[in-house]
Amino acid sequence: MLVILGAGDNPVKICDIILKKRNGGELSGEEIRYLVEGYTAGTIPDYQLSAFTMAVYFQGMTEKETLHLTLAMAGSGDTLSLEEVPGIIVDKHSTGGVGDTTTLVLAPLVAAAGVAVVKMSGRGLGHTGGTLDKLEAVPGFRSSLSISEMIKTVCENGIVIAGQTGNLVPADKKLYALRDVTATVDSLPLIAASIMSKKLAAGAHAFLLDVKTGDGAFLKNLEESFSLAERMVKIGNGAGHPTVAVITNMEQPLGCAVGNALEVKEAVLTLQGKGPADLLELCLILGGRMLYLAGKVSSPQEGEERLVNVMESGAALDKFKELIRLQHGDARIVEDFTLLPGARRVLPVTAATGGYVHRLGAEAVGRAAMALGAGRETKDDSIDLAVGVTLLKKVGDKVSSGEELALLHMNSLPDAPPAAKACRLVREAYTIGPSPVPKPRLILGYVDK
Ligand code: URA
Ligand code: CA
Repeated sequence: MLVILGAGDNPVKICDIILKKRNGGELSGEEIRYLVEGYTAGTIPDYQLSAFTMAVYFQGMTEKETLHLTLAMAGSGDTLSLEEVPGIIVDKHSTGGVGDTTTLVLAPLVAAAGVAVVKMSGRGLGHTGGTLDKLEAVPGFRSSLSISEMIKTVCENGIVIAGQTGNLVPADKKLYALRDVTATVDSLPLIAASIMSKKLAAGAHAFLLDVKTGDGAFLKNLEESFSLAERMVKIGNGAGHPTVAVITNMEQPLGCAVGNALEVKEAVLTLQGKGPADLLELCLILGGRMLYLAGKVSSPQEGEERLVNVMESGAALDKFKELIRLQHGDARIVEDFTLLPGARRVLPVTAATGGYVHRLGAEAVGRAAMALGAGRETKDDSIDLAVGVTLLKKVGDKVSSGEELALLHMNSLPDAPPAAKACRLVREAYTIGPSPVPKPRLILGYVDK
């Protein structure tokens, strides 16, 4: 099928666009918009877009092409307008990890420091978790809000966290499903455009990207993670939105809790100054940069200090309670964790030998939590909000033979297949060696401009 673009003296055929890309040429904005609009509208068939994405997979895309693709995708459906919300809005995006409790801590910290947070979050899939599932562990919490409810909530309290609303970026939904079945998901320009198109459509002024790298991350290779970060930062800035990225370590899970209600509890403890050091460190570093991007402070370091103040004063915890209350959840969970869903049984995993934890594979821990029911294999699976894994030992910690490494929180029987599988995965996730090893670095780099 040959489709004619425009009616001028020089008609362009879709086949020619594919050919140009296949041969390593650079596409114009018009050509890219034509593909995205036609594909979204259904006038360009899957087989032509499949050939196109495969051509991109092998030939890549220039910075200009990637920006054109992102803008075309971002404009393919509804976009959120946050003009009514006062101040500069900074959106944080994480490329996803295991036990990544960050948003639950970071959003109230930043909001308590006076920068509005409007966050559209997603659900977990595979071994990685999602913020919406975690918040829904709070009894009564409503994550499904209309755009006007979101705006009203953020104007009242400076913070809202909800699921995607409206028909945002339909081009990405279609294109991602196509990439998924044509072996073209792992193309850096396509990933960068996919992520940034959704950020741009969600209406924030500036973006802070947490690009995770390592065993539990979407990208396991450091060089690729830097490359993705650079591409996304160029897209954001190219579209006129100040954007910076932090490359962070996802070799082992973040914090100690992996599982929905368990992570809510971990977030509350962190806001009270009693949480895991790595989770707090990451939240302060990301949040300090968000305050800086919002123009609230004159350096990221000053931003970090401001966040420590709102944590120590209790203002950030109050903000978290307000977030829960305004979205119909039971804010008493902050004082009483027994109001959160709890697992029937807690089973320890113990060390077979003594020594030092050399490695704690994040993906295996994520898969263990999933085996217990904390995560979903496919989009439509239901999950158990109570279950998961808490890690008592992390990389660098000393352990003695027989000591508890982790706890499995389960509703299944301890000798049932899910528990046995989770137990095996957690045991295998740990590598214990005889010599001491340092705590791993959490922040592996920054990308701006
Ligand atoms: N996450 C996204 O949102 N899109 C991709 O293409 C890959 C990861
Ligand atoms: Ca965690």
